[in-house]
Amino acid sequence: MRVLVTGGAGFIGSHFVRTVLGTGYPGFDDAEVVVLDAFTYAGRPENLTPVRDDPRLRIERGDIRDPQRVAEVLAGTDLVLHFAAETHVDRSISGAADFVTTNVVGTQVLLQAALDQGVRRFVHVSTDEVYGSIEHGSWPETHPLEPNSPYSAAKAGSDLLARSYHRTHGLDVVLTRCSNNYGPHQFPEKVVPLFVTNLLDGRPVPLYGDGRNVRDWLHVDDHCRGVALVAARGRAGEVYNIGGGTELSNRELTTRLLDAVGAGEEMVDPVPDRKGHDRRYSVDWSKIRDELGYEPRMPFDRGLADTVAWYRDNRAWWEALKR
Ligand SMILES: NC(=O)c1ccc[n+]([C@@H]2O[C@H](COP(=O)([O-])OP(=O)(O)OC[C@H]3O[C@@H](n4cnc5c(N)ncnc54)[C@H](O)[C@@H]3O)[C@@H](O)[C@H]2O)c1
Repeated sequence: MRVLVTGGAGFIGSHFVRTVLGTGYPGFDDAEVVVLDAFTYAGRPENLTPVRDDPRLRIERGDIRDPQRVAEVLAGTDLVLHFAAETHVDRSISGAADFVTTNVVGTQVLLQAALDQGVRRFVHVSTDEVYGSIEHGSWPETHPLEPNSPYSAAKAGSDLLARSYHRTHGLDVVLTRCSNNYGPHQFPEKVVPLFVTNLLDGRPVPLYGDGRNVRDWLHVDDHCRGVALVAARGRAGEVYNIGGGTELSNRELTTRLLDAVGAGEEMVDPVPDRKGHDRRYSVDWSKIRDELGYEPRMPFDRGLADTVAWYRDNRAWWEALKR
């Protein structure tokens, strides 16, 4: 089976690639992996170093917005796992254009190429942020899409295109919508690696607003296992939420990070809130649990300790990225 992983040099895509070529996933035993990545600031070649020499891996530089390049690289693909996207909400607030072209247009280019070339299955990796913000309870997959940031709006647009290629053309498309991920190899602009690396450098951490925005924190390994399950056994045309991490306010997360690094409260620097900051995200993940037997495995405290240890031991990976 040939698997095309878009965004395979990024945080989550590279975790998937390292794992599928390492311990593996059920249903992926004979997988050959082709990574298609534009190597933007977030795509790090080093993320693939541990598997670079694996004969089952091919790495292709290319932009998902380029139909010709996509058609070339996609030839012979059985399964597309589409992780590539512009992903940082703050960047989408200061400039949304690349979010629309990569997340919306790029996804359409991939879907069309997959249809033209008879790809067997297309897994579109999305986010719980497309649902908007919820005060109480959790979103089921049937909840309307009410995205609030240009990032989540562009992801919602890509979700709808993915759905349309299934409904209109019968392409076998499945979607996942996951909660916030943390783990090694995450670009140090996102809150967990930003705070950890600041603290390791003895610098303060900028906490937005009142710190009471709530997120469900899931280890990247649990997310990728969920994507692999959906790819192997999810039903065509369906959406599967992936969650079940640890729900924490940003203030609580900050306290855990301070403790994990051994820093004190004086390192917290309150800053004005992010524009349009969603208050709370929470997905109902009972569908993937009941249909596919999914359960998250990584306890938050252990996952966070491992993540902090990884940033401590891999200063060379992130130091240059923070300048
Ligand atoms: N990080 C999270 O907490 C989270 C949670 C749920 C869902 N997701 C989704 O998972 C996917 C991966 O997220 P991530 O955190 O690994 O992102 P990331 O920013 O770390 O990586 C994105 C990757 O996509 C590549 N890319 C960007 N534009 C491209 C283009 N035009 N053509 C080809 N490649 C391009 C980048 O080079 C990079 O390798 C995204 O679709 C994101 O929406 C992320």
